[in-house]
Amino acid sequence: GLCRGGSDIFASVRENSPKGQFISNISIGTDPGARPVRLCLTGRNADWFYLEGRSIRLNSSASRVLDREVHGSVLKAELTCYEHDVMQIQNRILVEILNVNDNKPVFLQESIQPLSISEADTWFFRIDVPNSGEVVLNKPLDFESRTCLQLVLWAEEWNTVERFNVSAVLTINVQDGDDQYPHFLPCMLVSQSFPVCMNPVYTANIDKVLEFSPGPIKAQDGDRGINCPLTYSILSDEGGRFVIDNRTGELQVDDPLKYSVATVLVRVLGENMFPPVFNRTTFKGFIIQNSSPASIVSTYGNQVLQVQALDPDFSDGLNQNIRYFLLPPSGLYQVTQEGVLIGRTDQLQAFDRHVLQQVVARDEESGEEASALVDVEVLQRGQA
Ligand SMILES: *[C@@H]1O[C@H](CO)[C@@H](O)[C@H](O)[C@H]1NC(C)=O
Ligand SMILES: *[C@@H]1O[C@H](CO)[C@@H](O)[C@H](O)[C@H]1NC(C)=O
Ligand SMILES: *[C@@H]1O[C@H](CO)[C@@H](O)[C@H](O)[C@H]1NC(C)=O
Ligand SMILES: *[C@@H]1O[C@H](CO)[C@@H](O)[C@H](O)[C@H]1NC(C)=O
Ligand SMILES: *[C@@H]1O[C@H](CO)[C@@H](O)[C@H](O)[C@H]1NC(C)=O
Repeated sequence: GLCRGGSDIFASVRENSPKGQFISNISIGTDPGARPVRLCLTGRNADWFYLEGRSIRLNSSASRVLDREVHGSVLKAELTCYEHDVMQIQNRILVEILNVNDNKPVFLQESIQPLSISEADTWFFRIDVPNSGEVVLNKPLDFESRTCLQLVLWAEEWNTVERFNVSAVLTINVQDGDDQYPHFLPCMLVSQSFPVCMNPVYTANIDKVLEFSPGPIKAQDGDRGINCPLTYSILSDEGGRFVIDNRTGELQVDDPLKYSVATVLVRVLGENMFPPVFNRTTFKGFIIQNSSPASIVSTYGNQVLQVQALDPDFSDGLNQNIRYFLLPPSGLYQVTQEGVLIGRTDQLQAFDRHVLQQVVARDEESGEEASALVDVEVLQRGQA
């Protein structure tokens, strides 16, 4: 009868379409409004449709937007035709939801979590083309210069008109790899651009306590993020006179190949009981004025005047560590390390007399000093 002519409906509609969007016409033998015919939409997605005359239209609203990403790719319903409330025919409605590029790409949160990469892994940063999204290193990392890197990643749609893109910041924490040698402190930088530490030579006098210069014997791991415990040992000590506490010194525990060597100089001092002494308070001598730039001051016994301090700590009185100097320094005279006085003869005036306030003998080890006067007479050439 009146419901005849109906058939299954296959149609399509774009997602995000407005309310009333035409879906399909219905083909039945009579006007759907005409009694005794009644049409009824049922089924899973029936509420997405409504009938308007012979048309099926989309039942969406501002708060209920058709979204392929949410509602799937197909809407299914049935259209049933009743005549005098007796079901005559039932047709299937299958409406494909057409995809619209209405979503921007997003990074999966778990894929852009902060990463920790050991600097010892000499990988390279690279994003695999075309689409794996794998990020790998393309430059060795150096914990000692950077501990944190931030990488901006872009993802862009490739085969759409909109070409939506999204960016994410990938944080990479660089872990310290074991790539540095220990070095002794204080660290003397060889150059600013290449932070290479030169090991100091520690020196100390055996006196009372071993006090080392430029500081206590101490090394630290070059990998400061790892800060491996160090063990110290003496490599060579003829006679075995010294011991070192292995907990406060060198050779890496887990890698005997990573070690650093510093030299320790321990000066053995003779027991120092006496200061040096000059055997007279005033040294007298003369020098003959002439045109040569320098001459040696002589004694009146016509010998070389040699100021010499004796150190009773030594059996022969000769302390090799005694240095001589004039205080205040003189413009006309100098004293050699052997205690010989030299005058600048071409600048001296005959008949002048110079009393050099102090010639000082200093024990460089103990710091003890002795002083005396030097009395020099300038003679004229040929003078008796
Ligand atoms: C649906 O029916 C209307 C009115 O008869 C007509 O104008 C229109 O072209 C039809 N649409 C389709 C897609 O058949
Ligand atoms: C249209 O959708 C609304 C919900 O947004 C629903 O309440 C209403 O019943 C639907 N209309 C039809 C004819 O199914
Ligand atoms: C990302 O999209 C924005 C807005 O459409 C655009 O201005 C920008 O150039 C795009 N960036 C890249 C890297 O494609
Ligand atoms: C350090 O010295 C102690 C005591 O002499 C010894 O027991 C220990 O094994 C040493 N440690 C290392 C790492 O050499
Ligand atoms: C002082 O010492 C010098 C050099 O050692 C020596 O030649 C001289 O005789 C000494 N003089 C006296 C007074 O001891």
